[in-house]
Amino acid sequence: MRPVLIRGLTAAAAVSLVSGLGVFAATSASAAAGCRVDYTANSWSTGFTGNVSVTNLGDPISGGWRLTWTFPGNQQITQGWSATITQSGANVTATNPSWAGSLPTNGNATFGFNANYSGTNTSPATFSLNGTACTGSTGGPTTPPPSTPPPTTPPPTTPPPTTPPPAGSKVDNPYAGARGYVNPEWKAKADAEPGGNRISSNPTAVWLDRIAAIEGTDDSSSNGSMGVRDHLDAALAQNAGYIQFVIYNLPGRDCAALASNGELGPNELPRYKAEYIDPIAAIQADAKYRSLRIINIIEIDSLPNLITNTSGQAGGTATCDTMKANGGYVQGVGYALNKLGALPNGYNYVDAAHHGWIGWDSNFNPTADIMLQAAQASGSVNNVHGFITNTANYSALREPFVQPTTQVGGQSVRQSKWVDWNQYTDELTFAQAFRQRLVSIGFNSGIGMLIDTSRNGWGGSARPTAASSSTVIDTFVNESRIDRRIHAGNWCNQSGAGLGERPTAAPASGIDAYVWVKPPGESDGSSTLIPNDEGKGFDRMCDPTYTGNARNGNSLSGALPNAPISGAWFSAQFRELMANAYPAL
Ligand code: BGC
Repeated sequence: MRPVLIRGLTAAAAVSLVSGLGVFAATSASAAAGCRVDYTANSWSTGFTGNVSVTNLGDPISGGWRLTWTFPGNQQITQGWSATITQSGANVTATNPSWAGSLPTNGNATFGFNANYSGTNTSPATFSLNGTACTGSTGGPTTPPPSTPPPTTPPPTTPPPTTPPPAGSKVDNPYAGARGYVNPEWKAKADAEPGGNRISSNPTAVWLDRIAAIEGTDDSSSNGSMGVRDHLDAALAQNAGYIQFVIYNLPGRDCAALASNGELGPNELPRYKAEYIDPIAAIQADAKYRSLRIINIIEIDSLPNLITNTSGQAGGTATCDTMKANGGYVQGVGYALNKLGALPNGYNYVDAAHHGWIGWDSNFNPTADIMLQAAQASGSVNNVHGFITNTANYSALREPFVQPTTQVGGQSVRQSKWVDWNQYTDELTFAQAFRQRLVSIGFNSGIGMLIDTSRNGWGGSARPTAASSSTVIDTFVNESRIDRRIHAGNWCNQSGAGLGERPTAAPASGIDAYVWVKPPGESDGSSTLIPNDEGKGFDRMCDPTYTGNARNGNSLSGALPNAPISGAWFSAQFRELMANAYPAL
């Protein structure tokens, strides 16, 4: 899985980027002379979504802000967004996100959280900003607050559609105001690792990577014994708001790599429809599950492979040629979108690779076009709720020191070996720009993006904390970049990686959520040949001694040794991901 094609291509005019990822120098935090807080709670019987808006009425704050309060009851926060939120007993501390540490006079920050409670959900009476009580009167400032660096878009409350939908239709962002289903089988594996319980209550996706996974299997190292119905029942029991499945079983799957080739041959589209999609759709359509938002992530890597890995290209393969010629991917994705999109509570997100794969001009628009082709094959673009980038990949969410506009010694970082003329250097700017492109060619303006942040944290001691002072372009980029891979085309069990942002709803403009679709700790592929009957081949990109191919600039694979087959538990990787988490655990 995760094949990419990295090539320097014609240097066309640079697109202007939605960037604005402000990097601030952390000075000492100043005390606010006053502040105002607006706190709202949208409650249901056992939980609520809190939205907090804090306005600084005192001196400008430049070195980070901290809002504290005490819950009057037993409220317990489970998940937050647009701030880092910790709770000890009834005491809560919310601190600024790393990219938005200043709060000028009259500046405003908003963030939110999900929480559990029982009894009465009484709102906190007092708040303090950097230690100073917020006694400011409510009512907006007379002048608009100065803008603070994006992205801190507050998550909309549920449902927040841009245009009111007809009764009974889908919400705009299925992640907002909803608790995610925690897969108990993944949780048990995470809990069995030292310190794993620090992260084991996060929602991860359930991968339906073969027909047998619909019922659940007892004989496989990569699926659990729970099937689709078991997971949906468990989600109801957890009182979850949403559940995430990965639909991953196309005919001729993973045509440019070997680690996840799957069970269906290139011409088995009829089986894909009848034995895979139809039964999944039938179970998900059970009225019993109507209260759950059922999120289906559609077919990782497939459509982008038809753009970059067909003949005439450095990474071209015969299987990708076949799948392009026989329409198996486009028709298969179209069929899945149609069946699963028909569910009143079904939300389809199509996989759209990542910046290090389709960020080049030659790949960007054609990939958007083939997404549209698949949506049209489904009968309507309305079957597509959004797209996901970086699934099971390692691309950094933000590269604060290496933006495409960054110049060093009169040269653009795009000229460096690492960036290699790509128009993007990180996932957030890429996902936002790709969304705009998709809307411009005919997708609904309400589509939202997901970014898989399960393994793109790159924390630990190797993480740069400032831009390099070198004026040599390659040295500058290599010393400044957050992504520590040997090459951005490397995708298998990357050494040095860490957990990324925890699952978060509506973290930035155009982004429905940061999600953990690849369950941390599950291998990307075996590092040596391991015979199996699960459709898992041996891809040399998972072998640490491999010196690469055209798709990774003939570089070392950067893979960890001793890995089991894709999907199987890889304890050493899980431990390293925790150790290198960013934000740290
Ligand atoms: C594997 C699947 C597995 C998934 C999540 C894929 O690479 O092919 O079997 O479920 O990763 O770990």
